Amino acid sequence: MIILGIETSCDDTAVALVSGSEKKCRILSSVVSSQIKVHAPYGGVVPNLAARAHLKNIRPVFEQALEKAGRPDFGLIAVTVGPGLIPSLLVGANFAKALAYAAKKPIVGINHLEGHLFANWIKNPKIKLPALCLIVSGGHTQLILMTGRGQYQLLGETRDDAAGETFDKVAKLLGLDYPGGPVISKRAKLGDKSVFELPRPMLSVRSPDNEFDFSFSGLKTAVLYQVKKEKKLSPKYVNNMAASFQQAVIDVLIHKTAEAARKYNIKSVMIAGGVAANSKLRREMKEKIKEMKIDFYAPEPEFCADNAAMIAAAACFRNKKEGNWIKINANANLKLVD
Ligand code: KG4
Ligand code: ZN
Repeated sequence: MIILGIETSCDDTAVALVSGSEKKCRILSSVVSSQIKVHAPYGGVVPNLAARAHLKNIRPVFEQALEKAGRPDFGLIAVTVGPGLIPSLLVGANFAKALAYAAKKPIVGINHLEGHLFANWIKNPKIKLPALCLIVSGGHTQLILMTGRGQYQLLGETRDDAAGETFDKVAKLLGLDYPGGPVISKRAKLGDKSVFELPRPMLSVRSPDNEFDFSFSGLKTAVLYQVKKEKKLSPKYVNNMAASFQQAVIDVLIHKTAEAARKYNIKSVMIAGGVAANSKLRREMKEKIKEMKIDFYAPEPEFCADNAAMIAAAACFRNKKEGNWIKINANANLKLVD
């Protein structure tokens, strides 16, 4: 079956077409219209501006995705219904509902986080279970145990800022552009990670209640205190701080993921979400997980960031076929695990 995916949960307007079954899934087209220019002056996503941009972009992005795929007849519409920014989610959900009604197609709602997770399955449809998925994006940091498709257990999550959000906030402190992740990663390559001693929050928590939880706001504050001591931030200072900060985040993410993999006898580890595009995180996590003789997966960087192929892929691998537009709604706080 051919599935049309629609994603507007944050600041990317994305439409994709995929073809496949629950066994494998092939991308026919994937178009993403970024709103970085709209939000960069504010140093973060402004929900109402995002919704307006989605409203303007969704039709042309849809047309482009259809055109690139050769205008196939799709049999299902899969749309992100949460979690995310309500003004943004409503644009995609409304567009998808109208399309489903007009074209008389079935429609299903997809959890954005499940989309990130299934981005890993597009290239590797036979990932062995139980698997662990570290979702690290602008809005989420979660460690999820996957025992089956649709069967998830939340092992831990951030108690405050998400990993990507911390990259964005620290970039702002260093006078760097939005989004912070790509630019910090670039500057870190020019710096020395051992110049600043920064905390590794919650690294040694042993209580079963929260051993896999994260906390990044203290790390951000530690950077703030250091930065405040400087009159002017030299390029060298910024490079060294970017490298030291990035390493602190990576150390925590790898340590917690490896510990959880050990505890739950995991066969495969996946990473997903915008921060999973970070080349140092990918390299070091792969090394650690392979050392433990566990399979490791990460989507291509373009499918780590928000896209609609992952939304259609989630519908594909979950074998979704039926759904009524009346039931589709948007939920900013939609959970992957109840
Ligand atoms: O998954 P995503 O595209 O959107 C959300 O669902 O939030 O993630 C966006 C986040 C931003 O915070 C951005 O700074 C971060 O991912 N990011 C990165 C990198 N590329 C994007 N963080 C670290 N290193 C990167 N290379
Ligand atoms: Zn996302």
